[in-house]
Amino acid sequence: MNILIKNVHLLEDERGVRKDIYIAGSRIAGIDQAPEGFKAEVTIDGSSSLCMPGLVNAHTHAYMSVFRNYADDLPFEEWLFGKIDPLESRMTAEQAYWGNMLSITEMLRTGTTCFVDMHMFPEMCVKACADSGIRALITRGLVGSDRHDEGGLRRLREALDEIDYAADVPEAHVTFGLGPHAIYTCGEDYLKFIAETAAERGLPIHMHLSETQNEFDSCLREHGMSPAAYVQRLGLLEGPAILAHCVYLTDEDMEILKAPAISVVTNPASNMKLGNGFAPATRMLREGINVCLGTDGASSNNALNMFRELGLLTLTQKGAGLDSLAMTAPETLQIAVEGGYRAIGLADEAGCIEPGRLADLILLDEEAPNFQPKHNWKAALAYSSTGYEVTDSIVHGKLLMRNRELLTIDEERVNYEIARAVSHF
Ligand code: NI
Repeated sequence: MNILIKNVHLLEDERGVRKDIYIAGSRIAGIDQAPEGFKAEVTIDGSSSLCMPGLVNAHTHAYMSVFRNYADDLPFEEWLFGKIDPLESRMTAEQAYWGNMLSITEMLRTGTTCFVDMHMFPEMCVKACADSGIRALITRGLVGSDRHDEGGLRRLREALDEIDYAADVPEAHVTFGLGPHAIYTCGEDYLKFIAETAAERGLPIHMHLSETQNEFDSCLREHGMSPAAYVQRLGLLEGPAILAHCVYLTDEDMEILKAPAISVVTNPASNMKLGNGFAPATRMLREGINVCLGTDGASSNNALNMFRELGLLTLTQKGAGLDSLAMTAPETLQIAVEGGYRAIGLADEAGCIEPGRLADLILLDEEAPNFQPKHNWKAALAYSSTGYEVTDSIVHGKLLMRNRELLTIDEERVNYEIARAVSHF
């Protein structure tokens, strides 16, 4: 589809400058200069809009939005093993599909155009991505004791089968990785086996790491080293790795995580809600680690709203660090955009608005009352935005939301199916 966004303000440009963006196929084809023979099928008046790259939610569990506001105000272990796990084991694939659709609805409405997912229901996230048009890196969550564990092998097989399945779904803009859940749900040999499989297949690793004090202390006790050192020793950090949380890190861990293929996803709301503390995001950033931002699942957040999340990130780093300069608005935005695209291997393909890049863009209403007066747009996005100023969303050159109306998702149907799914809880 050829789209022309006319007279729009690009976030990177100084105040007052407005430009035309030409989108042809999946990419940005020109800025202020129409590509030869360009004929717009859709023209968007951008004269009261701010345009920026879509945000990357670098760690979530999209199907989990069915658990939103179901189990709250509980200790971490009781929440996960006592409440969420038993429900999850009774959940059907169809319910997971609608959970994915609900999460994607919320993400598209609040400016996320790409997410990194860890799930338990093969093919459902791929299907939801294909139906909605959003971009994702998908990992089937893996749990097991060793390379001979039947359940562990089944889950790994499902992860690989899902990649083959998606090859026949060209409308899904998805890539894949392997998702060992955590060091406390996967045995040492199973983790080694996953590392070997990831290396063989050229797949990134996506896992939870060093999320709680308990996880850190247990790892030290059982393996004589930190969680980061432990997964490095098992080979999980040989290739690209997306590590969620990393709240508890030693000085040596900082060195390990500096490797260019490693990304750390910080999830401030989830860490606070579960009483896990504040990840050292500022320090990681200063050390040169690729930091990106995620919401985690809707049962530990309870929103999949990246604008809310980036506001929380900068505020918590300042507050917990007793330093008003700990993390600036531009740094926070860089984490939520460039950090995320780098994590999923799209650093050269997306994350900025220039010809040749993928057209994954959002428009925000510049006239929103919380954006007045128009002093500093990055500050407005980091400190004033609710996420619901987003009016339009384009992924892979396709318009998914126009004037706040989702074009690929029937929201009434999503809400109906979700209500039906949770009536059995
Ligand atoms: Ni998580």
